[in-house]
Amino acid sequence: MTQGLVHMAYVAASILFILSLGGLSNQDTARKGNYYGMAGMAIAIIATVLSSQVNAYVVLIIALLIGGFIGVKAALKVEMTQMPELVALMHSLVGLAAMLVGYANFMDESSTLTGVEKTIHEVEIYVGILIGAVTFSGSVIAFGKLCGKISGKPVLLPGRHVLNLGILISCIWLGDQFLVAAETGNGTWPLILMTLIALAFGVHMVMAIGGADMPVVVSMLNSYSGWAAAATGFMLSNDLLIVTGALVGSSGAILSYIMCRAMNRHFLSVIAGGFGSSSGSSSSTEVEGEVQPIEIEETAQLLRDSKDIMIIPGYGMAVAQAQHTVYEITKFLKSKGKTVRFGIHPVAGRMPGHMNVLLAEAKVPYDIVFEMDEINEDFPDVDIAIVIGANDIVNPSAAEDPNSPIAGMPVLECWKAQTTLVLKRSMASGYAGVGNPLFVHENTRMLFGDANDSLQSLIRALQS
Ligand code: TAP
Repeated sequence: MTQGLVHMAYVAASILFILSLGGLSNQDTARKGNYYGMAGMAIAIIATVLSSQVNAYVVLIIALLIGGFIGVKAALKVEMTQMPELVALMHSLVGLAAMLVGYANFMDESSTLTGVEKTIHEVEIYVGILIGAVTFSGSVIAFGKLCGKISGKPVLLPGRHVLNLGILISCIWLGDQFLVAAETGNGTWPLILMTLIALAFGVHMVMAIGGADMPVVVSMLNSYSGWAAAATGFMLSNDLLIVTGALVGSSGAILSYIMCRAMNRHFLSVIAGGFGSSSGSSSSTEVEGEVQPIEIEETAQLLRDSKDIMIIPGYGMAVAQAQHTVYEITKFLKSKGKTVRFGIHPVAGRMPGHMNVLLAEAKVPYDIVFEMDEINEDFPDVDIAIVIGANDIVNPSAAEDPNSPIAGMPVLECWKAQTTLVLKRSMASGYAGVGNPLFVHENTRMLFGDANDSLQSLIRALQS
């Protein structure tokens, strides 16, 4: 394939990636967005493989087969609830690739660059390895935290901010040493030392971040992986990688910002870590008050008597795989002339859009699914709010208790409805490990049990 054709293919792939991002920003067009992305990636891979720089076809085919096999196997096996872990693991691979490409470039003796061009290339290598190493180790720790292999509690080293500052200064100093030493072809030690420091920094940064801030960390690492890919593009002089990396990097940064706003957190305070530590008195998982359990028959009667119903799904709906039953019950209630709407919190579940994906899978129409901002003021007019396996996102202490560890985080104010029905298995706290006064609120009824089992019993009771 001629270089001109390769460039044309890269431009086409870039346009498809931009269309893909545009499509993914809306539920109606998300499927189309995915197709654009897949088409763009297929064009990018084919054009790269057929370009004149590539000739090691045997190695390439073996790598494609191994990578493709692992990818297909992981995609078929992964549960919806494990998606964030998979995403974190994927980010770690982008970081690892940036590191390896950086070292391969550094060791490449065929380079004929001289003067300023050589220096620029060395800066690209240094920055690429730096971002790659932070992304790699940070993503591995995020993976461990999300799948529960590492505790979600923040690990706070004494003087950690000073430590972080020291790491930043030493990386800048080592960069300078690297550029000086590289002149004599001897930059290995500063590079290796910086890599070790960057790896340790990735571990330290994510270990210090508490459970409730993990969504921001995942999207932040997503952004880092984009910048790592862009750095790789600079090292390889590959325009498409630069464009794609910049798209992923900037969209990840925007998503992190949106999520910080949704949780009323400053981005820098998230990165500084420490949120979710259990030192404050209000972070206790115990709440005082009387719990009012309810049985299926009584719940069915409550629903028969209600006209305006708001369903709030959370992580527990994903665990119980209750989305299909939720839609069954929604259809039944609508057939009885009731208004049924869904209220979605931006960080419900364990990844951005988690609830939207599950509801779309169950074929819940988009026009009854609303974002938090669109419906939060409607709760006083709602007859019954049904909270299905949600906890942190409906915690009144976020809005009412300034000492709560999640104080200021916007939540769905379902306690303002006439009645709130909470479906969960026990009085256990949610992801942030914070007690929830909603469960002892005077208007709240607790329907204990697996959400899917409870909803199936409820349908039977309603139909009988
Ligand atoms: P959580 O606060 O984690 O609460 C989920 C609740 O579901 C738990 O209290 C659990 O109580 C219940 N549950 C679990 N399995 C269940 C089952 N089979 N049937 C019924 N209930 C079940 O979830 P949330 O309200 O959706 O809030 C999300 C939290 O995760 C936030 O703190 C958020 O910051 C964090 N987070 C979000 C993301 C993204 S991007 N969305 C990523 C990482 C972390 P029982 O054990 O008593 O049943």
